[in-house]
Amino acid sequence: MCGIVGFTGKQQAVPVLLQGLTTLEYRGYDSAGVTLQTNNGIQTIKSLGRIAVLEEKIGTMGEIDAVCGIGHTRWATHGAPSDRNSHPHESMDGRIALVHNGIIENYLELRNQLIAEGVVFKSDTDSEVVAHLFAKHYKGDNVQAMMDTCRELRGSYALAVITSDRLGEMICTRHDNPLIVGVGEGENMIASDIPAIMSITKNFMVVGDGEIVRVRPEGVEVFSAEGQPVEKEIQTVTWDIQGAQKGGYDHFMIKEIMEQPKAVKDTVSSRITDEDMPYLMDEGVGEEVFKNIRNVHIVACGSAYYAGMAGKVAFERLARIPVLGNVASEFRYSDPIIDKDDLCIVISQSGETADTLAALREAKARGAKTVAIVNVLASSAAREADHVIYTWAGPEIAVATTKAYSAQLSVMYLLALTAAKARGTLSDEEIRTYCRALRDLPAQIEQTLATAEAMKDLAQLYHERNDSFFIGRGIDYMTCQEASLKLKEIAYVHSEAYAGGELKHGPISLIEDGTPVIALDCDPALHEKQISNIKSVKARGAKVILITNGDFEIDETMCDHVVKIPACPYFMAASLAILPVQFYAYYVGVFRGCDIDKPRNLAKSVTVE
Ligand code: AGP
Ligand code: GLU
Repeated sequence: MCGIVGFTGKQQAVPVLLQGLTTLEYRGYDSAGVTLQTNNGIQTIKSLGRIAVLEEKIGTMGEIDAVCGIGHTRWATHGAPSDRNSHPHESMDGRIALVHNGIIENYLELRNQLIAEGVVFKSDTDSEVVAHLFAKHYKGDNVQAMMDTCRELRGSYALAVITSDRLGEMICTRHDNPLIVGVGEGENMIASDIPAIMSITKNFMVVGDGEIVRVRPEGVEVFSAEGQPVEKEIQTVTWDIQGAQKGGYDHFMIKEIMEQPKAVKDTVSSRITDEDMPYLMDEGVGEEVFKNIRNVHIVACGSAYYAGMAGKVAFERLARIPVLGNVASEFRYSDPIIDKDDLCIVISQSGETADTLAALREAKARGAKTVAIVNVLASSAAREADHVIYTWAGPEIAVATTKAYSAQLSVMYLLALTAAKARGTLSDEEIRTYCRALRDLPAQIEQTLATAEAMKDLAQLYHERNDSFFIGRGIDYMTCQEASLKLKEIAYVHSEAYAGGELKHGPISLIEDGTPVIALDCDPALHEKQISNIKSVKARGAKVILITNGDFEIDETMCDHVVKIPACPYFMAASLAILPVQFYAYYVGVFRGCDIDKPRNLAKSVTVE
């Protein structure tokens, strides 16, 4: 998630840090801060809001003479966005300051341990535990202290620390979160991403997972996680700053598509126990939530609604609880049959969608228990629901959702498995098998990213067609609806999503020579039926792109193109099948010259009804 910068050299650190943080703004953030190393110890200035607010605050403090410091833009995960939760965080004695990107999964355990040892916490963040842990281990050797600290951490992190006694020195490391070192002449920087270093240098090295880096003005030393020196290659940036903000990708949408393995991993990994069981107790969503309920209502808008509908398949098939799905704008005015015996799940990336909020309030007013699945910390839906389960997708910049949608799906699987356990509809062994599959899902998503090239070629072939169909059955039908929405919003192509068996009841009349039909076939139990549906459009001249995880013989009476994806439990197929269709929508949009990250008439957060 968000941004880290650090600078050490001869020029004043404040302007370099602020400039660096500004170039990381695109990553999304809610607060910002810096710590500077001065001759009188370290000085931290931080505030809620934009970097401009921080700059103003620094301006009121008079001249700060510092040539080394660290800075941070925070996208809150643990603790609401506020001055006090902003980074950097200091140790109790004020000798150590730390910035962190990511999530410390075992923070509660560490926090309780540190409190028992007499530490007084100043924030609600998970990150502050790392500052205190580092202080505990620091005896003058910052590499050793970082090694000892990391040994106690679980989760994902990029960390940078400065201490009051080692002037001009920064110590940093990373695990599953990005960090690079900008290598200049007599001055060096660290940063989450390349744009932040470009004011001083175009040369950089990528910090490897687990490596520890000590940065001084005159040089950079890299150590392995075990403290052994490591030789690093220095690379040179070839992009301009705008390209660099997108990590070298042309658009945020494609960057975010590529981030889906991490979004899902971050969302599920701390929620599956070592015994391979779903664990949502930190959010208060245990088995008792599902024990005596009559119905589950899923209420959301757009893609979040489609994630909910894929979740409905999992809920009904695994936990045998009836699930009623409604788009939020309809739910509210439908005089819904919902009361204290029901559970209402609302899903929202932003947590601020007006229709979804109104529906949540309606469900609460009628006495239902409410759970919100939300990406933005401390957003309205997160504050108002009885329980909130965060998706840890990180900031999503493109208007069209991709990684938040995938993270929402993974939370729905966890909820469905928790419900199945509560209702006794699956054995513990079955639940364990599914949890293991869920743990493997990020790796399978990673594998499925390889469909990008094939989908790009197909997009090139069909991007001029103004009508398309997506067909699928069961869970595939849910994916088709999201796929069709993606193609409409990104590429302005009219498209329809249909359940395979429903075509013959009308829409098949629209199939003509050359109509692209993207057919999903990812549930082996429905394979034969789906193939018959596919053949019926093929016979009417459609150009069929078959996306399947099946291993069967394919002939030209069935399809024109085939794209293979990995096999997984049928209800999780939505998480893999979505990737090729996201690529397809993206590349069709690119070939049609559309404004990918900001499609016409759309907003990222729809705060009007
Ligand atoms: C998704 O690509 C769309 N931009 C849109 O359908 C979106 O999912 C919907 O507006 C809901 O937004 P939310 O998740 O922030 O509530
Ligand atoms: N988990 C940390 C927090 O909530 C860091 C978030 C970030 O990466 O910005 O403060």
